[in-house]
Parts: sequence; C-alpha cells; structure tokens
Amino acid sequence: KGELLTLETMSTVEISTILEEAAQFAQGVQWRPNKELFIANLFFEPSTRTRYSFEVAEKMLGLHVLSFSEESSSVQKGESLLDTVKTFEAIGANALVIRHPENDYFQEIRERLSIPIINAGDGSGHHPTQSLLDLLTIQQEFSSFSGLNVVIVGDLRHSRVARSNAEVLTRLGAKVKIAGPKEWMKGFDTAYQHIPLDDALNESDVVMLLRIQHERHEGSMEWSKEIYHQQYGLTIEREKRMKKEAIILHPAPVNRGVELASELVDCERSRIFKQMKNGVAVRRAVVKRALSN
Ligand code: CP
Repeated sequence: KGELLTLETMSTVEISTILEEAAQFAQGVQWRPNKELFIANLFFEPSTRTRYSFEVAEKMLGLHVLSFSEESSSVQKGESLLDTVKTFEAIGANALVIRHPENDYFQEIRERLSIPIINAGDGSGHHPTQSLLDLLTIQQEFSSFSGLNVVIVGDLRHSRVARSNAEVLTRLGAKVKIAGPKEWMKGFDTAYQHIPLDDALNESDVVMLLRIQHERHEGSMEWSKEIYHQQYGLTIEREKRMKKEAIILHPAPVNRGVELASELVDCERSRIFKQMKNGVAVRRAVVKRALSN
C-alpha cells in the first residue's frame, strides 16, 4: 500500500525507481495528485531536516499538511500511538509520516491502518528516506554504486542511518567498511571490516561520518570532544589525504569540531548541504509513491 518502513525489504529495482523519480524532481519535473489529499507528519522525536524537508516536499506536491506536535497533543493525556494514528486516519489523512524513538514502532500499527506509513526514523532501527537521499547524492557523483569504496565512521551502534546505508550500499555493489571506536561497532563488526580511519582514507570514494548520538549513550562519553576528534574524526590533516574525487557525507546535525573539523562542513568535498537539498526531491518521490498505490 505504498508504505516505506525500511529499505531491507525493498528490491534494488524498486530503489532505483525511487531514485530515478527523485532525480527527475531534482531537475524540475512537477507532479500533483488530481484530487485533494491530506498528509500528517507525526514526529515523536526532535527533527529539523527530515520534518521540514517532508513538509516542503508535501507542499510542492500540493498536499494539505497536518503538523503534529507531541507536546500539544492528547499524547499528553495518555493517548497511545495506535489511537493517535487511527485518529489521523479517521479525520481524513491519506498518509502518515512518522518518527518515533522505539525501534520497529510501525509493526504494532501498520496492520491496523488502511493508509500508508512513511518511516521518518525509528529509534536506532532504520531511516529509509535518509538512505535514499544519501544514495541519490552518491549516484549524482559517481553514476554507479558498483565497486565504490565507502567507509562509515563513528557512532554506528546507535545509528539508524548506518544500519540502513550499510545494508543497501552493499546490496547495490559498494564495498562498505567501518571505522571508529571498536566498542561502537557492535552489530556491524561481524558483517563489515573494521579498519582505522587513516587506512580507509587512501581508498575511500565516500567518507560517511555519523553524529555522536549523545542522547542514546548511557553515561558520559569516554573521550573528550578534542580527543575523539584527533583519534577518530576527520581532521583538516586527514582530509588532505582523501582521494582526489572523494566526497564527505554526514546526515547532520553535525557536531562541528568533533566528527569533522568545522572548516570541512562546507568544504569543496562536502556534500552535506547537497544531501539536505536532495532530501526534498527524495521525499517528493516517496510521498508520491505512497499516494499512488
Ligand atoms: N538527518 C536527520 O535525520 O536530521 P534531523 O534529525 O534534523 O531530521
């Protein structure tokens, strides 16, 4: 029914179709449904990029957008997620965009709804639209994923972006390696080679940095920000050792001076703001798909 929960169950053909549609939107193609439609954005976790790029995408598609805020909703009176989403269905939403702190939150509600859910991030589980916009950004640069060397660096254990990207990039033919503190590689180090960032720099076409998710860490971080940056971050000195055509990705928000030097956030190699721009095109394609099924 047009839902998008994870990329793991989506074929590479279907992924390519969404990327093609997104690329066309990025080049100025327009599409609008031929009837009045409503979409609700339900964010139970903070968001800037995902929330507002969905909203821009939805408005570009001519949809009526219902913006839900947990703090001023009946969730404060104890209403469950199921009753919240069923309420939006009852009042006329044609699709739901949901971000929620619980992994797989969608499993308990998807069978109880007849409208599609687009997952805008579930706990440390999945972030499919972030992966799609990362894929679009990589594709614009290198045309093909086959044989590309990608290193994913940092707080992988807590990262839904890393989980979605490592799986799909591998399936599309890229060679994915991981770098960062060993104790943050749990869940990844059996499937992907863990190497020092310094070794990865010589061979990587894409250096994908991840935000340190302080909100998902128990207790304080083991390192100071300065020590983390020197040991595991993309310093100005390390950037100079990247391959000539290699690019830097980061889903953002960025901890400047930690995952990468502040000066590198919008350096020539950085595609961080391009990723955000591509997010609108990808979300237009994903919302169109949800409403067309
Ligand atoms: N990349 C990303 O998901 O950013 P937000 O948390 O701001 O939506």
